[in-house]
Amino acid sequence: MNITVIGTGFVGVVTAAVYASLGHQVTGLDVDEAKIASLKEGRVPFYEPGLSELLLEQQQNGNLHFTTNYQDAIPNAEIVVVAVGTPSDENGAVNLTYLRSAMDSLAPLLKENAIVAIKSTVPPGTLTEETKRLAEKATVPFRVAAVPEFLKEGTAVADTQHPDRIVIGTDDQTAFDLLADLHKPFNAPILKLNPESAHMAKYASNAYLANRIAFINQIADLCEVSGANIQEVIGAIGLDKRIGSHYWYPGFGYGGSCFPKDVSELSTYAKSQNKVENLFTYLDKLNRDRIPMLMERYAQKIGGWQGKQVAVLGLSFKPQTNDMREAPSVHVIPELLEQGALVKGYDPKAIESATYFLKDHPELQYKASIVEAAQGADVIMALIEWPEIINFDFAQVRDNGKEQWFIDARNQFDPQKVKAWGFTYIGVGQ
Ligand code: UDX
Repeated sequence: MNITVIGTGFVGVVTAAVYASLGHQVTGLDVDEAKIASLKEGRVPFYEPGLSELLLEQQQNGNLHFTTNYQDAIPNAEIVVVAVGTPSDENGAVNLTYLRSAMDSLAPLLKENAIVAIKSTVPPGTLTEETKRLAEKATVPFRVAAVPEFLKEGTAVADTQHPDRIVIGTDDQTAFDLLADLHKPFNAPILKLNPESAHMAKYASNAYLANRIAFINQIADLCEVSGANIQEVIGAIGLDKRIGSHYWYPGFGYGGSCFPKDVSELSTYAKSQNKVENLFTYLDKLNRDRIPMLMERYAQKIGGWQGKQVAVLGLSFKPQTNDMREAPSVHVIPELLEQGALVKGYDPKAIESATYFLKDHPELQYKASIVEAAQGADVIMALIEWPEIINFDFAQVRDNGKEQWFIDARNQFDPQKVKAWGFTYIGVGQ
């Protein structure tokens, strides 16, 4: 099949490369000249395990191309996947500017009966609205569908190749059949939903996971004041089959490019429809308040940040990515500096992104290794569970001449081991 993917951000590049690996002719299209120039040379502008290799392989075998030119990419495409960004605006509502602009550009160039499939995360009603927009400018009949993505950063290639399910939202049986054929090699359940359900399934999925994280964080806070241990509690509640024991790490709250944005967009959508406060609004607030609240709690435990040397380990929002969008470090480090701490940061992959995201904080020192960041520190903050960080032997950086605190922000360390190294251990909810 001839497929064009519009938007070569995180979702678009992974989707394009994986479709190409199925033997399709795929073109990645973006208006960002610099991004396309880099992709044409086989360079992915972000870190995602396995993606560079797949991209190069598919470019070399001639299945995958990149362009900034709609005229080159649309007229031959049987399927046009729209994966442009849908950020939140200043009021938390979804901003559809990029989506609309892509629709306006592609509409007059469509091949007869091509399928336009919206992969971007958008509220219910969007496919219907965008179909009208397309119809005004298209010169031929076309088909539409919503095909939300559920891939996670850090495991995006594997998630795309082995999805839990494929959701296709369309009222058009032919569009469904063609899209189902495209996704059959992934061997996952393929669901035919109405477009509104497909849009909602994506928001609901992320809001549920975000809610789960906020919930366990609240229980962790109660553990901390009651003498209960959150890890023991998780072990106990997780054996209830209705609940399960996965996806239950308490910490600084959820970050990244999706959860905070999707929860806030769902909250704004809910307010616009039902005109009442809703769970998502409160969820969003709880998550925003969490880092300042924990920083205050930690400050009390260590006797204030002023003059403390702090090693912040893990700057990305999660392991196996250099994405810093809504990473805990982006909130934690400015607060530490503001409170008078000397901060040394380390990350296996995200130092370059950090110099951009934290560019207003020249006092932050970037270090090339855990040892360099942690040597002599008064406080070690293990923020993100990169394997290199959680498997590190911190006895190497223990200074027996002073008290050193170890903040295990994601409960990834055995407290007894950290204490045996000689640190004062501070976990979450234990
Ligand atoms: C998420 C969704 O899972 C994916 O389906 C969606 O389309 C994009 O957003 P991603 O942001 O890559 O993917 O990461 P995920 O691993 O789900 O984690 C999101 C955030 O929740 C991270 O900040 C993570 O640290 C946090 N988290 C996750 C917790 O705090 N506790 C947990 O138990 C799990």
